Amino acid sequence: RLEAVIFDLDGVVTDTAEYHYLAWKELADELGIPFDRNVNERLKGVSRSESLDILLEKSSRSWTAAEKEDVAARKNDRYRELIGQLTPGDLLPGIGELLTALRERGIAVGLASASHNAPLILERLDAGSLFQAVADPAGVRKGKPDPEIFLRAAELLGVPPENCVGVEDAAAGIAAINAAGMKSVGIGSADRLGEADLLLASTAELSAEQLLALFR
Ligand code: BG6
Ligand code: MG
Repeated sequence: RLEAVIFDLDGVVTDTAEYHYLAWKELADELGIPFDRNVNERLKGVSRSESLDILLEKSSRSWTAAEKEDVAARKNDRYRELIGQLTPGDLLPGIGELLTALRERGIAVGLASASHNAPLILERLDAGSLFQAVADPAGVRKGKPDPEIFLRAAELLGVPPENCVGVEDAAAGIAAINAAGMKSVGIGSADRLGEADLLLASTAELSAEQLLALFR
């Protein structure tokens, strides 16, 4: 029985996945490290420091911990500049309607984002009150693809994982949802998100009926 839907934030609720890409791309260009959208797919859902490690795989030299901290902070400053432009109109298509439809049906809504910028983004979108539980990545030991952050959100909502749906745009996120024992919905293409129980090309295709149908 569907009791809760747990959303990823970046690339699902709003298009901040694009801002992450732009900020990493600027940094990579400055550092002279090759970086493209293909490599960027691997950064989706994973933490800032792990993302940097993936980006630096193509670097011709090694990086000290202090240097890495410095460039990660630079990327984050640029990213925060970009998300400063967000307004309540920047929910992705269909998300506002879906949140309303879920509320009308008494289905709980949670957030499971790896981003330390999630509180700022929710504030910019004026969407904080739409989520009954927000799992704090600072309180989670293992990031996606580990199921921990989705399990934490379910626990905060008081719903057993098997009665939850998770919605994700990252391969690491779909793996986390499946490992949590939840039904998974992927937003994107089958080459990356083929393990999802339901795959949709865009958030515009999401509906409460489809999520309910996953339990029939
Ligand atoms: C995830 C994004 O939601 O958050 C990743 O998909 C990002 O790309 C991660 O690296 C951490 O975000 P932040 O905002 O804390 O750097
Ligand atoms: Mg995402």
